[in-house]
Amino acid sequence: MDAEQRTGPLYLQLASHYRRAIAAGSLAPAARMPSVRALMALHRVSLATALQACRHLESEGLLEARPRQGYFVRATALQRRLPPAAEPLPAPPDPARYVGVQQRISALLARALAARVQVNLAGASAQAALYPLRALALQGQRLLRRHPELLVEPPPPDGLPALREALARLALDAQVALRADEVLVTHGCTEALTIALRAVARPGDAVAVESPTYYGLLQILESLGLRALEIPTSPHTGLSLDALQAAARQEPALRAVVVMPNLQNPLGSVMPDAHKKALLAWCDQQDLALIEDDTYGALADDPQRAIKSWDRDGRVILCSSLHKTLAPGMRLGWMTAGRWHARARMLKYTQSRPNEALGQAVVAAFLSGGQMDRHLRGLRRRLTVQRGQMAEALADHLPAGTRLSLPPGGMALWLALPPGLSSEWLFGAALERGIRLAPGVMFSNATRFDGFVRINCGHPMDAAQHEAIRTLGRLCEQALQRPTGAVRDVDLSPAWALSAPGEPA
Ligand SMILES: Cc1ncc(COP(=O)(O)O)c(C=O)c1O
Repeated sequence: MDAEQRTGPLYLQLASHYRRAIAAGSLAPAARMPSVRALMALHRVSLATALQACRHLESEGLLEARPRQGYFVRATALQRRLPPAAEPLPAPPDPARYVGVQQRISALLARALAARVQVNLAGASAQAALYPLRALALQGQRLLRRHPELLVEPPPPDGLPALREALARLALDAQVALRADEVLVTHGCTEALTIALRAVARPGDAVAVESPTYYGLLQILESLGLRALEIPTSPHTGLSLDALQAAARQEPALRAVVVMPNLQNPLGSVMPDAHKKALLAWCDQQDLALIEDDTYGALADDPQRAIKSWDRDGRVILCSSLHKTLAPGMRLGWMTAGRWHARARMLKYTQSRPNEALGQAVVAAFLSGGQMDRHLRGLRRRLTVQRGQMAEALADHLPAGTRLSLPPGGMALWLALPPGLSSEWLFGAALERGIRLAPGVMFSNATRFDGFVRINCGHPMDAAQHEAIRTLGRLCEQALQRPTGAVRDVDLSPAWALSAPGEPA
């Protein structure tokens, strides 16, 4: 109880406490009031005081007594009788601190969430049926039967040893050799990236990122007070090293580079190995941290090496996730932080404590059971088919001038709309017809990708998806004939995304 409630007769103090709970909605209309016995135990009051408090609230019309059931919050006319909440409303966030990409992304996401979406082409994971639901569920049931203590015993801070061992084995697929104790289990790759950035940079520092890049990374940077230095990136060879070097000369506060060398989001590019090694060598020379996001690497058609595999002195922080490859519902990610390992452990512990044990144990059992390889082979096969089908549908229905780069894996296509069309406009027009897509403006702090769209192909092509693509095609055709409102008002250079400097567009 607060100070105001600690004066006057005890029963009135108690009544005032529950009046506030009702006003705040903690006790909703029709909710059961704690029993008189519970009130006695909870507040160390006598039976008479507890009863008197309830009767007082009843006399105010806030509670009603039901025979043999106790007191309930009255559902009628409640709000009119209550005084306004005592606490002032929280102040709005300081606009000077929250005016970046976060605002644009939040606005787009809010529009999408408010719409009745029938075909979602905006996601970045695959259809649930493409994940090993049954095998994971069986492991979960078996573990709950045999080890129910997983629900009540605190998990170890860095993750379950069995999972860390299994993840270290999984990393061998990207030619990364790790000990289990170098692996930290995290809440998705989002937490791994956040920890990595907090470990190597301070608010105000600059971090080089690919452009376009995964919008979640831009959100993390903004939330940490870090500045994104966007570097042109090719859909064929990834981040342009020349452009990075040129930008770095102008930016003394550059502390780190974040890249997705294998199946970059949204471009789908894969950096050639020579390019990966050159980037690492340059980071060595500049003494910069290299944060590698390998969320999609396992979905590449051909096995791809992680940059971490060439790291000899712990400069690379590798962040990854099982969110796209195994279980989107489980939010499991992991990282290995090289020379920043101790700091990353501390940040993980202070930020969120360990991940819950049951999910970790389920995945550890699945990975150790040798089923991951087969699952990933099947998933890659399905995604290859779906990417092809989606690309064909887009080629059939979108107007001339649309360009597409077909990535060597993954579940997304990056599409350049015919010159003049705005993805933000298309996003709104498509949403009105129940179709959601990811407009290019989400993938950069600037609006230079307004002429691009990311399309998900994680779902098998069905009649609804075909119809959605036909609708997108019609919308684009109509907009091109009657361009008012559909044309972006910013100067856009498509070559930015489709080629790096020195590379043919
Ligand atoms: C490239 C990339 N990195 C990180 C994430 C976030 O991963 P998680 O969902 O595991 O937090 C995503 C999610 O879409 C992503 O696309």
